[in-house]
Amino acid sequence: MPKLLPLISSHPGGRSALTCRYRCGDACFHETPNTSDNAYVGDVIAGALSRRSLMRASAVVTVAAATGVAAVGQARPAAAASDKPGQSGKAGKPARGLRFSPVAPNTKDAVVVPEGHDQNLVIRWGDPILRGAPAFDPDNQSAKAQAGQFGYNNDYMAVLDVPNEDDRQLLVVNHEYTDEVLMFAGYDADNPTREQAEIGWAAHGLSVVVAAEERKVGKLTAVPRHRLNRRITGTTPFEVTGPAAGSKLLRTSADPSGKRILGTLNNCGGGITPWGTVLSGEENFNQYFANADQAPDATAKKRLKRYGFEDGASERKWERYDDRFDVAQEPNEPNRFGWVIEVDPFDPDSTPRKLTALGRFKHEAAEPRLTTDGRPVLYMGDDEKFDYFYKFVSSKRMMKGGSRTAREHNRTLLDEGTLYVAKFTGDSPAKEIDGSGKLPDDGEFDGSGEWIPLASGDTSHVDGMTAEEVYVFTRIAADKVGATKMDRPEDVEPSPRTGRVYVALTNNTDRGTDGKAPVDEANPRTGNKHGQILELTERRNNPGSTRFNWRLFLVCGDPEAPDTYFGGFPKDQVSPISCPDNLTFDAFGNLWISTDGNELGNHDGLFGVATAGGRRGEVRQFLTVPNGAETCGPIVQDRRVLVAVQHPGELDGASVEKPASTWPEGPGALVRPSVVSVWRRDGGDIGA
Ligand code: FEO
Ligand code: CA
Ligand code: CA
Ligand code: CA
Repeated sequence: MPKLLPLISSHPGGRSALTCRYRCGDACFHETPNTSDNAYVGDVIAGALSRRSLMRASAVVTVAAATGVAAVGQARPAAAASDKPGQSGKAGKPARGLRFSPVAPNTKDAVVVPEGHDQNLVIRWGDPILRGAPAFDPDNQSAKAQAGQFGYNNDYMAVLDVPNEDDRQLLVVNHEYTDEVLMFAGYDADNPTREQAEIGWAAHGLSVVVAAEERKVGKLTAVPRHRLNRRITGTTPFEVTGPAAGSKLLRTSADPSGKRILGTLNNCGGGITPWGTVLSGEENFNQYFANADQAPDATAKKRLKRYGFEDGASERKWERYDDRFDVAQEPNEPNRFGWVIEVDPFDPDSTPRKLTALGRFKHEAAEPRLTTDGRPVLYMGDDEKFDYFYKFVSSKRMMKGGSRTAREHNRTLLDEGTLYVAKFTGDSPAKEIDGSGKLPDDGEFDGSGEWIPLASGDTSHVDGMTAEEVYVFTRIAADKVGATKMDRPEDVEPSPRTGRVYVALTNNTDRGTDGKAPVDEANPRTGNKHGQILELTERRNNPGSTRFNWRLFLVCGDPEAPDTYFGGFPKDQVSPISCPDNLTFDAFGNLWISTDGNELGNHDGLFGVATAGGRRGEVRQFLTVPNGAETCGPIVQDRRVLVAVQHPGELDGASVEKPASTWPEGPGALVRPSVVSVWRRDGGDIGA
């Protein structure tokens, strides 16, 4: 029986060294790519508080007095008798949608769900989904088999109804990256074989797979060989669209047109468009490329550095089997990754697209909504320490209906518009933002902000850069215009109820440390280990606006620590939460948060929190995931919660021979990233 490794202390940001190596190319251990001297939130309103914040401060005190809770910013009252969220102190039931008994923080090698709930495995890495694909055989893996099987490390999931098929759902799942050392017995990282490299290419990308629902319970089971099932991999042809399509910055010897790219890599978060396509962000794409030091000139080297490309061999050594991963051979190939892609999941023969109008950076997610006049708007995070938060506003209105004309029109919506980057300004005096996480005197980390335009169509708004350069080297453009350096923007989710936009800022252990950007009101903690969730309200609640207000909704961590804040809710009644990552909403307007890298010593999990009403800020933990895993792709439906359990067993020193987890099949089987469905045993609505 394989021996389970003890849990090993994590690296900066809470991840294991193995996660750092395979997912981010050890991003935390290299120089932070953003070395620009770009300003930060520091330009706060000097001196006395504004009238607005004074009014808010007094309102906070009034609420506090009425509820008997200590005013925000003061020491919290002694912990109540029960340590269960929502079971003491503040009267009344938890918000609708969150009425389950919270799962206690734990380190079990399992998916732990609330009392009265059941779960099943929807699909696992290696399960065949296409016609002709063989059953998973860990000892006889091949690239051909993997190309017809569910990929590795499931991350974001989109779930859509299947037309004319009741009791069926269509899952579109990202496969962010591969953990070769957990996939192949006897893997030699210095000498990967060609077959292993090609299995890696085939295990990346996305899966489109239909799943069957079971009546009355939330059980969901993948349907192999369905006509809509599809694999998109690291070698699938993509069409490039938008203003940088065909740019000389995108041309290579294999593609002199600059319009046809093979494959998508490191697909992290995503979104569903109102016209029925799925978006997916290419995130830590830099790690797949070798020899950044051999770029043709100083400008190219500088650009590669800003995106974190490394000198020498890459971790997976793919450059040995395909020249395009060698910067010395194909200096423009790196520019062909780092985009948001769009897939039509209802047409398995369609060519997926890379959308250049949305800019190129480490795209975390892309969650669309519509302006008041029907134009799509996308919010997008660039997940790196001190990188930025972006928005794209289309210049075209969406056409309703499923006609061919509408479909053809809507597929151009994300090719034309304006790309913006966010600048956040705090409203409290700078001296009150001292890095400790103590709330300023106005009772909140909050302020206003503006969307700074970078490019519109073929027009650049950035001095010294062409529009093409802005799209391909968006980080450099944002450096030049004074964007705010953030604590790693992960997922973004607009509330379908209120229109407020929630941004998960997962952590940034370098914040405010020597030589790094100082704290500011939006990123207020030095050495931020636990992250925060920012709530942004566009002016007049119009997503097309260029101005917004913001406040921190959650400042995560141990509720007993003075540097945490839970929307003003009594802190002795919430679940501890650390490193917020993926976000989604339920039908009741509650925000659901999955975590990656829990720095509180327990496993990652999924949490629900009310965003409005008297219980705003009451965080309740719904589930936890196995050893080494991250909770991804949460979907909360009326009677079902879906999570993608990503990188189970990914702990330092683990391998196939020495697994750190035996989930999901127990000892003797390979650990397998899998999608899990959870439902209430009595058939009732989740949390209602
Ligand atoms: Fe793939 Fe930023 O998480
Ligand atoms: Ca403030
Ligand atoms: Ca993420
Ligand atoms: Ca999301």
